[in-house]
Amino acid sequence: MKYNIALIPGDGIGPEVIKETVKVLETIGQLYNHEFRFQEVLVGGCAIDATGEPLPQASLDICKNSDAVLLGAVGGEKWDTLPGHLRPERALLGLREGLGLYANLRPAVLHGALKEACPLKPEIVGDGLDVCVVRELIGGIYFGERGRRANGKMGEEAYDTEAYSVGEVERIGSLAFELALKRNKKVTSVDKANVLESSRLWRSVMVELSKNYPEVTLEHMYVDNAAMQLVRNPRQFDVIVTTNMFGDILSDEASMITGSIGMLPSASLGTSGLGLYEPIHGSAPDIAGQNKANPIATILSAAMMLRITFGLDAEAEAVEGAVTRVLEAGYRTGDIYSEGCKLVGTTEMGNLIIEAIKR
Ligand code: IPM
Ligand code: MG
Repeated sequence: MKYNIALIPGDGIGPEVIKETVKVLETIGQLYNHEFRFQEVLVGGCAIDATGEPLPQASLDICKNSDAVLLGAVGGEKWDTLPGHLRPERALLGLREGLGLYANLRPAVLHGALKEACPLKPEIVGDGLDVCVVRELIGGIYFGERGRRANGKMGEEAYDTEAYSVGEVERIGSLAFELALKRNKKVTSVDKANVLESSRLWRSVMVELSKNYPEVTLEHMYVDNAAMQLVRNPRQFDVIVTTNMFGDILSDEASMITGSIGMLPSASLGTSGLGLYEPIHGSAPDIAGQNKANPIATILSAAMMLRITFGLDAEAEAVEGAVTRVLEAGYRTGDIYSEGCKLVGTTEMGNLIIEAIKR
């Protein structure tokens, strides 16, 4: 089979982690007889430098016409002072919106070998963690009405608006319930219904939806409590479904529980079969170009792509199994290093994973 993948190396450590991931996919292609065709596209700071825009139309079009998009990271200090609509981050939002990717899946799994890197006490972590944050991705305050006005309560005022419609909650909610069916059959819907009207609508839609999923337990939790429960007793969670902004915050928190943000993949899915896969970490300009970045989050994102968009379960498992074995053998990049382990760079980590796939 042939698969067309739009590649967005982006900025900072993006190109380095994408390079290792392409090597991994090429290995999988050889072993399982698939042809992965990569087309590189300019998005983010590098696109601003080359074209003046963070997301050139041509780049968006190539992504739209591909089977899947694999993204490294975008952004960096160099572009931080540009106005909002020209910042590299704007490209991410434009991609999500332009590709209709309303659901962001962020699984937080603590690898047995990485227990040392988890900042929580062993008795809290028990024998592991496996939570999946399902974040709404193209609605809410990220995309609501915003602006500035002269006469606020105390001078000039700026505002952003949180709004959710029934249909938007239904589609993300259904996806969360379907996912829970394949996991531990529990959905925790996170909102702020004690204060926000949009959360009250969100909650009532989730209650209605749950009637179609009698096998799944639905629980509601206020976002402040959820932030606390994630560190107090993270094992109570299976699927967490929430809004764009709450999901942004809680998924970073969940990632830290698993030891390092350098480990976690994500998938953004929408109405078409097309998916965008990316590590949840950013461009880490401080370590860019130094062969220090952890490529595992991007490699695991590619595994999610193999499974979800291409339906290649065995191939996805081959990649994930290889990552686990390399970690079990004691190899670590700096972000997950602990005493007694073997410190390796980005390229070495990629090569080790490839060797493990071949074995
Ligand atoms: C993320 C990031 C982005 C977001 C930023 C870079 C726009 O934090 O993917 O979590 O807030 O969605
Ligand atoms: Mg974020």
